[in-house]
Parts: sequence; structure tokens; C-alpha cells
Amino acid sequence: LNQPIPKKPITINGQHLNGDALNRTTASLSGASTPASTSSPGPVSADFYFATHAPPKFLAENAEKIHTFVDRHMHEGRRVVLVTSGGTTVPLETQTVRFIDNFSAGTRGATSAEYFLEEGYAVIFMHRQFSLQPYSRHYSHSKNCFLEFMEADDKGIHVMPAYVDQMRSVLQKYRETQRAGTLLTLDFVTVNDYLFLLRTAAQIISKMDVNAMYYLAAAVSDFFIPADKMSEHKIQSGDGLLNLSMDQVPKILKPLVNDWTPKAFIVSFKLETDEALLPSKSRQALRRYGHQIVIGNILTTRKRVVKLITNEDETEIRLTPEEDEVQHIEIESRIVPELIKRHSEWIEACGLRGECG
Ligand code: PMT
Repeated sequence: LNQPIPKKPITINGQHLNGDALNRTTASLSGASTPASTSSPGPVSADFYFATHAPPKFLAENAEKIHTFVDRHMHEGRRVVLVTSGGTTVPLETQTVRFIDNFSAGTRGATSAEYFLEEGYAVIFMHRQFSLQPYSRHYSHSKNCFLEFMEADDKGIHVMPAYVDQMRSVLQKYRETQRAGTLLTLDFVTVNDYLFLLRTAAQIISKMDVNAMYYLAAAVSDFFIPADKMSEHKIQSGDGLLNLSMDQVPKILKPLVNDWTPKAFIVSFKLETDEALLPSKSRQALRRYGHQIVIGNILTTRKRVVKLITNEDETEIRLTPEEDEVQHIEIESRIVPELIKRHSEWIEACGLRGECG
């Protein structure tokens, strides 16, 4: 799961969908047909999307948790960061048997969340269900399964001596975070869950004003099947080829920056596979949405090189081969302090000007 998954082009209605988001499918896309959606020329507006789709069932309960968490940390004078992590799915049927998935193990989000916690931030970790999570990621099912670190004898079960120091350190940080109550984890599965949850969270977090940061590392689907065009039941095979027409997901950064949380410090990510496109696409995102930083990364090198791009400058963070392969330094340990520094400057500048944005 931690290895990059090569992008496979998906041809739907003669169009190659091998761009930003759709690069892995768990659905069988042949041998059946589904009601075709009337494709729109561009993304629908966020308002239209929210007016025509039902919120997930868990939303009210999660809103309550976010309220309590934000109020507490605001009262205690902590900054809050909302980290999004992992990929969203796009169901092909209402009673979902098949869905299109986005790549992302959630490594970036889970790792970054740990460094934010270490720096004293309260973290709302909004992640894809079953993707990597802070602390447990070190001993997850996909990498370093915890069983590999254990041994049994007549006295019981123990951590093997060689791993005790490292495991103790992770365990101590985990317990300390639990004790301090500085981590709130919320999960999503579909892109619909993600959109509703992000909007609700942002509207609540907006009371933090400049003391909130958004770190949007999730790999969000760019295309979806609108609810009213989706097949209720499992798509049947035997009717020949499956033709899917998908609409564009609304670009959620726009209302996030302009309406839901205008004073927050917002960091988005830009993932590309073609290095030549990365600077222009990152700058385009900054211009289009008016937020503070885009972190550009390339699929194959994302664990050792990123570029922090703002309207004013471009800063590369790169691990040397020694740091990456021998010292096993995580690039997030460099990204997060740099962002915190810039968040502090943002808070200060907003204070001086009396307004942000
Ligand atoms: O989890 P890992 O395996 O460690 O991988 C980390 C990562 C490569 C997924 C991460 O570093 C990353 O680049 N995440 C963003 C990937 C992505 O979806 O990029 P994008 O080009 O589709 O979207 C760019 C930005 O626009 C994102 O920050 C997203 O929050 C935002 N967006 C996307 C879709 C949408 N409908 N509305 C949005 O606002």
C-alpha cells in the first residue's frame, strides 16, 4: 500500500480519465451499463451540489464532536489544524457493490498529523476509513505489522528487545496525545462524505479565525456520478459494454477560502506525474482559489521532494539520499515546521493589517 500505484488510464465514453484523481479502479467497468448522466461542461457549483445531495448519516454526530473539540482548544489557547488524508471513493450504485477509488495510503496525512501534534497543535484528522492513522501507522497491517515485533515465551508476550526503544517512543507520544485530548479522528469513505464533512468542519472551525490551519492532503475524486443518475441496484453484466458518464466534482477550495473560513491559513496539495506541469498547475490553483500555499509533489518522488509555492516564492524541501535511505528522515518533519512558521507570520500579518485574505 505504501508503494505508488501506477496510473492506469480509464476510458469512459471515449475519454481518458487518467488525470489527477482517477487512477485506480476497484470496479469492473465492463459488461454492463448504467444510466448515463447528462454531462455538464464544468464542475457544478458547491451550492448546487449540496442542495442536490443528501448528507451522510454521521454528519450531526461528527459536528457535535468538532464543536466540543474546537471550543475546548480555543479556550485553552491552542491552534487547530484540520488534516485531510487518504482517498475518496465514487460509488457506481446507490446500494454500492462497485466503486472507483483514489490512490493514497494516507501516509502524508497521518505522518504530518504526528508532527503537528508534537508542535502543540490540536489536530482534526479527517481520513479515509481504514487508511493510515497517526502513531498506529508505524505498526500497520500494510507495513511493519505489529506481530513482526512481538515474541512469546512461558512468561507471556513481549516486544522483541531490538524494537523496544522505538516502540516505547511511539507509545509514549500516542499516550500523551490521548491524555491531552489533542487528536480528533473522523472518517469518510465516499467523496460525498468528504464534501459534507469538510464543509461542516470548516463552518465550525471558522470561529478560530486566523488560528486555524487546513492541510488538505487527501486525494479527492475529480469526477462522480450524481445521485439522481446513479443506478439503485447492482449494475448487471450481460448488456454489453458499460458506459459511464461522470460529472465534475465541485472545486471545494473556492467556497472554503471565500465563504466558509476566510481567515484561516489554507494549504492545499497538488499531485502530478509530469514534472513539467507541476509549477504552472500549482500557481494556477493559487490564482484560482486565493489561498496561501500549494505544496506540489510528484507521484514517484513525493516522499523525498516537495515544493512549497506561494504567490511570492517557491521553496523546495528535498531529502538527501543519506537522509532518506540511511537516516529514514520523514519529509513531513521538515514540511510541518516550515508551515507552522508561515502560519505564525500569517497570524501576525493579519493582526497588523486588522484583516486577512
Ligand atoms: O497518502 P500518500 O500515499 O502519502 O500520498 C500523498 C498525496 C500524494 C495524496 C498528497 O501528497 C497529495 O498530493 N494530495 C492531493 C492530491 C490531489 O487530489 O490533488 P488534486 O490535484 O486532485 O487536488 C488539488 C487540491 O484541490 C487538493 O488539495 C484538494 O483538497 C483540492 N480539491 C480537489 C478536488 C475537489 N473537488 N476540490 C478540491 O478543492
